[in-house]
Order: sequence, then structure tokens, then C-alpha cells
Amino acid sequence: MQTVDQLLRTGVERLRASGSETARLDVELLLGHAIGADRTVVAAHPEASVSLDGAARFEADLARREAGEPVAYIRGFKEFYGIAFSVDPRALIPRPETERLVELAEREVIRRLTAGPRPARARPIRIADVGTGCGAVAVALAVSLRRRRIVEEIRVLGTDESADVIDLARENAVGHSVGDRVRFVEADLLPPVVVDPFELILANLPYVRSDVIPELPVAASFEPVRALDGGPDGLAVIRRLLTRLPDALTRDGAALVEIGADQGAAIGTAVDDALPGWRTVVELDLAGHPRVARIERPA
Ligand SMILES: C[S@@+](CC[C@H](N)C(=O)[O-])C[C@H]1O[C@@H](n2cnc3c(N)ncnc32)[C@H](O)[C@@H]1O
Repeated sequence: MQTVDQLLRTGVERLRASGSETARLDVELLLGHAIGADRTVVAAHPEASVSLDGAARFEADLARREAGEPVAYIRGFKEFYGIAFSVDPRALIPRPETERLVELAEREVIRRLTAGPRPARARPIRIADVGTGCGAVAVALAVSLRRRRIVEEIRVLGTDESADVIDLARENAVGHSVGDRVRFVEADLLPPVVVDPFELILANLPYVRSDVIPELPVAASFEPVRALDGGPDGLAVIRRLLTRLPDALTRDGAALVEIGADQGAAIGTAVDDALPGWRTVVELDLAGHPRVARIERPA
């Protein structure tokens, strides 16, 4: 039987050779997955022996990673906003940058709830999560508001154009016990007619330029291209969403739209063209890059 240390060493060597820039982290996660232990346990016990079954599982997973498959698809889950989401090739793997969108949404909900006296039987705040994927934004927001004991004050509708993805998002909502607060529908951006407009529209839609897609790291080639491809300048899908905002947002509603780090100026122009007079404020992420555009009607 081999030890943890022996398997880690050969794994790191092989992943480095295959081009992984996070070889050590990947191998610790994969070995932990194979033997049913946390990564920290793996790192803390290099001398431990690994069973033949565990080593065989690790070998199979390592081969998948060597071929470029993302660790999150191999393990079947990804942590986002402090909780684990089931992920598989039906949906994009949630990215850490998107946590900024959830954080701003949470802040916006709290601002609305505390802005003034709220009638005892006030309607829940209506929120849409457009292009929900595995449900990361919608579910993370609901779970976080539940921790603050205010989840009853919201209703979220997650949408995606892919029916497969909707099933996965539903699994995540139910798995995190927020299935009663978050519903999902298959739709092109939003339902064709929005009868009851939203106070908050959240969107992490595809925003990668089509010509950049072939240059992305190989791991991205395992993800659905419709989740990444934002057309010639990356903003094609977002532009279509902008045209829906006047009908889909309440008078005092706001849209929070994730953008690429180099799209801060372009989103302002896109809003000016599609929605003359509307206001756009671009919020930065932790790295100081443009990340979320807040779009609303003139006061
Ligand atoms: C960048 S992924 C984001 C997924 C998820 N919101 C997240 O942050 O992990 C974009 C998602 O938008 C969906 N999408 C693309 N075009 C769409 C459209 N026209 N209407 C609805 N969803 C769309 C894709 O299927 C994909 O799930």
C-alpha cells in the first residue's frame, strides 16, 4: 500500500506535467475525495497508508484531471458563498468573482427591508436570477438571508434557457432547504410576459467574447459553451436583457449584472444606447476590477 505522501508526490508531478497551475491543491482535493477525507486531513497525515481501493479511485480521478477536466466536475461539487453546490457538465462551475454579485444583492435586500417602516403583511421582495445555471446566485442569496432570519421576506425566480440546468438548480435549492423560497423556470432571459415586475434582477449571463473562447484554459472546454459565449464583444446576451428591464423591473427596481473586468466602460455605453437616461454604477470586485453593473431608472 502507498502512503498519502507518495500518492501526493506522484500526483503533483503528473498534474504539473499536464499543465495544471494548481497541481498541489488539485491533488490534495482529489486524494481527499478518493479516500473520503477533508483536504486538511490529507495534508496533515502524509504518513498514513491509503487502501488499494482508495488508491485506485485516486488514480481514476487523477487521469480525468490530467485530461483537463475541472476538479469540481470530478468531485461533483463546488463551494460558493460558503456552501456546497452540486455541479456537473450541464452547468457552469460557479466562480469566486460571482460572490460579489450575491454580496451586493444581499446588501440591496437589507437596504430595502430597512429603508422605512414595512407593513406587517408586506409582500416579499421579488427577485429574478437570470441565467441561474446550477442556481448558485439564487440559492446562495436565499441561504444567506435565512441565516439572517429574513428569508421569508423574499421570493426568487431563477431562469435558464436550458431545461437540464433547471433540474440541477432545483436539486441545489431543495438540498439547501430553500425550495419554498426559490422557484425555477425555463425561459429565454425572463418569462415572455412579466405580470408582476421584480424589485431586483440579478444576472450572471455569458459575457466572454466569442473569439476568446478557444483561448480559455482547457478546463473551460468541459463547461457548456452557451454559459460562456457572449457574442462578438461579450455583451450580446446582456444587451438583450437590457431591453427587457423597463417592463420587468418595478419603478424603483434595480438590476445587478455581472460583467467582465474589461467591460466597465462598454456596459455604460450599452445601457445609454438601450435605456437612455437610466443610471449605471459599476461596482468593483476584491481585486479592484469592474465586476457588477448596477442599472436603474432615473430618480
Ligand atoms: C455564466 S453562466 C452563470 C451561471 C450561474 N448564474 C452562476 O453564476 O454560476 C450563464 C448561464 O446563463 C444561461 N443562459 C445563457 N443564455 C441565456 C438566455 N438567453 N436565457 C436564459 N439563460 C441563459 C446559461 O445556460 C448559463 O447557465
